[in-house]
Amino acid sequence: MTELVVRRLLIDLEPPVARHWCANDAFLTAWFNALSMSFPVGEQFFLDSVRNGAKTLSPQEQARWQAEVQGFVGQEATHRRIHALFNAQIERHGLVNTWGPRIEERMKVLAGADPRHHLAITAANEHFTALFAEWMLSHPEVFNHTEPRLKNLWLWHSAEESEHKSTAFDVYQALGGSHAWRVKWMRRVTVFFLTDALRQTALNLHRDGTLWRWSTWRSAARHLLGREGLLSNSFKPWRAYFRPDFHPNQQSSDLSSHWLERNADQYTRVGAG
Ligand SMILES: [Fe+2]
Ligand SMILES: [Fe+2]
Repeated sequence: MTELVVRRLLIDLEPPVARHWCANDAFLTAWFNALSMSFPVGEQFFLDSVRNGAKTLSPQEQARWQAEVQGFVGQEATHRRIHALFNAQIERHGLVNTWGPRIEERMKVLAGADPRHHLAITAANEHFTALFAEWMLSHPEVFNHTEPRLKNLWLWHSAEESEHKSTAFDVYQALGGSHAWRVKWMRRVTVFFLTDALRQTALNLHRDGTLWRWSTWRSAARHLLGREGLLSNSFKPWRAYFRPDFHPNQQSSDLSSHWLERNADQYTRVGAG
């Protein structure tokens, strides 16, 4: 059981965001903008999946998971609200979000399905977010030359993703979700997630006029596939998800709690889950 605290990040998203807000780097900016575009719709799906899935637990199990589920829902609701404000800023740069509507379209197919499908999809996505979060927390230099408020936004979100990474997985297990469904959904989510993320990034770069710059591709190669790259560093822990005895907490580190301790002046606690 994880105790999840809902925090309100002290951030002002009224002032405009620079066009290449992340380290003056067109690729990094387009990549993080793409991820942010998926959050309002995606994180609503995650919190609905966990909340609705938990309602189908036995009364005894519901009582056991209630506090953690409430914390999870509160954290994701806060993330999606803040990223919606951030997205409104980057849309002023002429960017168009096609990822969010694609998720909404796909979700229609899931209407009325067994809640464990929703949870397996959420757990798979949460594994991705946890891996990406760990990468950001262990490579904060990616946000060098980035406004402190935006660096805090991404590292706060990363810290909370890392903190609640086992909630959807545990509710899925508590509902008797099978290993077969779990890995089947991970395969599909991997294809959708990577395709969507790269497609939205390319569209952002296209609209930014920087898609065909050599520096853009050099940054992409270095930050995704280089020795310390996001995808190269995430491959092994991603693969671990397919093991029958996998649990998200096997990949825990102290980076999340350290960031939250060191940056306690950046947020207020709005309630304990
Ligand atoms: Fe989140
Ligand atoms: Fe999450």
